[in-house]
Parts: sequence; C-alpha cells; structure tokens
Amino acid sequence: MTEASAPGKVILFGEHAVVSGYSALGSAISLRAKVAVNYLPGETVIDATDLGIAVKGFRVNLESSQVTAIGSSRDAILATRYISAVLNEYDIEDLCVKVESDIPLAAGLGSSAAIVVATLAALNQHYGWGYSKEMIAMQAHRLEKLAQRGLGSPMDTALATFGGYQILSETVQSVELPKLDLVIGLTETAHDTRAEVEKVQKLYSLYPDVVSRIFEAIGGISNRAVSIIESGNLDELGVLMNVNQGLLEALGVGTRELAELVYAARGAGSALGAKLTGAGGGGCIIALPSSEDGSTIVTALKQAKGKAFLAKTGAEGVRIESL
Ligand code: PMV
Repeated sequence: MTEASAPGKVILFGEHAVVSGYSALGSAISLRAKVAVNYLPGETVIDATDLGIAVKGFRVNLESSQVTAIGSSRDAILATRYISAVLNEYDIEDLCVKVESDIPLAAGLGSSAAIVVATLAALNQHYGWGYSKEMIAMQAHRLEKLAQRGLGSPMDTALATFGGYQILSETVQSVELPKLDLVIGLTETAHDTRAEVEKVQKLYSLYPDVVSRIFEAIGGISNRAVSIIESGNLDELGVLMNVNQGLLEALGVGTRELAELVYAARGAGSALGAKLTGAGGGGCIIALPSSEDGSTIVTALKQAKGKAFLAKTGAEGVRIESL
C-alpha cells in the first residue's frame, strides 16, 4: 500500500479580486486528505467509505443514477469525481484507491485540490513515475479544472502541493511566513464558487470604475498582509481581516449566516478579526484569536449555530505517509 496526504487551505485575503488579476494570499491548513492506493487484480475501486460511499467499478459516471442510487452523500460523489478524473487520465486499472479526509467537502477549504494532489502523489510513488512536486501541482491544477468544468485557480493545488503560504496574482509564489492559529467557522449553507464569481464579475462589468477600486483595495490588503504576518502584529492583521470582510460584503458575496458567524466571532468570541473565506454565498469564515487558544471563538461560533474548529496555517504540503 502507498499512502499520500495533502493539506486543505484557506484564502486569508484577496478572494474575487484575484480573478481580475489583483493579489490574494492563501495558506495551507492543518487538516488533510489521505489517499491510499493498493494493487487489486481485476478490479478498480474507489473506496470513500469514511465519506459515506464505496464505489465499485471503473470510470464512475457522476451524472448516472448508478452512484446516486447507492444512497451516497453529495460530498462523497464530489470526492469520487476528483479521483476518477485522475484515474481516467492515466487509464489506471487493477487498483483500490481509498480516500479519507478531515477537510469538510465543498466548503471552500480546498478539499478537492487536496484529494487530487494526494491521489497523484500516491500514484506517482506506486508506479514510480518520477514526477516532481512542480509536475504534481501542474497536473493537479489541470485535472481539478477538468473535473470542475473549467473553474479553479492554481492557488488550491499549489497550496496542497507545496504547503505554507502562497501569494497569487499573475503567478503563484511561495512566501515564507510564521504560522498562525485560526478558527474556522462553517455555515450549513452550500458554497457555489462559480455562481459567486459570475455574480461579482457581472457587477464589475456593470460598474467597472466602482468595482475596480474595491478590487484594488482588496489586492492592497493582500500585499500589506505579508509584512504584517511577518512582523507578528496580530491586532493589525485582525483589522485588515475586518476591512477585507467589508469589501467582500460590498461585492455582494456576504450572507446573513456568514455575517452572524463573523459578528459572533468578533463579539462573544473576542476575535481580533473575522472574515468570510473563499467565494462566499455560503461556506465558511476564518477568525483570528488574540492568543493561541481560540476556544472562546469556537464556543461563540457554535452558539451562533455554526460548526467550528481550530486550524493552524502554514501546514506542510503533500507528503508520502507510507510506502
Ligand atoms: O471558495 P473557493 O475556495 O473556491 O475560492 C474561490 C476564490 C475566488 O477568488 C472567489 C475564485 C478564484 O478562482 O480565485
């Protein structure tokens, strides 16, 4: 058995502005997807039992009723879609691929990129392809985009592969920064990146003079955040998170559920700052605790009907767990 794991991610600053070429700063987080591959003569199986599904057979057709009829969750179907995209690409047979993940699926936390990257890394090791990390990141970005029908920035796959922090504008670049303790709060509302991106881009085409200034302000925050994280000034970082949240609200990607979690984190949770992360319209928020112990924020978010957990930024990228 060969097993590889890859981390999930958060966008700290810059979502939406990055689509129009402004900077965004993202970080790998301490939640991982694990993919194990095993020789299985005569069969190809994707086993996502822990995610609520075991799919037997090659080339899982996600549109087909076959998968739906198993009673699988939407989450498990999503996870399976990414793995089958990789298996199809390489015409892989006679293999059992088992996936487990601590990363909530379809919440904007990079679960699909982590699954694709971990699958590629496990296959690379198992078949001795000799892929470099750069090659894995490039292939993963292409395959994730394929599975998402054209969508997907290179940020998620770069973070899943290389870990740490990445700044994205025209290209993706690693930046060395200290780790941060964050609290992640999840709404129960589904997250639809494509719909939110389309909405913001429509606003941009209607009011280019107004929206470009919002994008510019957001991009400026992403760039400034790098030196602030470097200096460890958490108060200032919190202020910038709050400003970025206001600008995302101005773009129309906030929701009541997200705002309730943001205000719960800042109020009862005494967070230094809080903002939505990812495309918005649902999904999750990040909050910055004043000390390492974010448990007050976790409690406040749970009381506000969110799911909440602690995560560290700057996590390690893809790695082989066992040979
Ligand atoms: O919610 P996520 O993780 O899919 O992030 C989307 C980030 C956007 O800037 C809105 C889109 C993108 O491709 O960068």
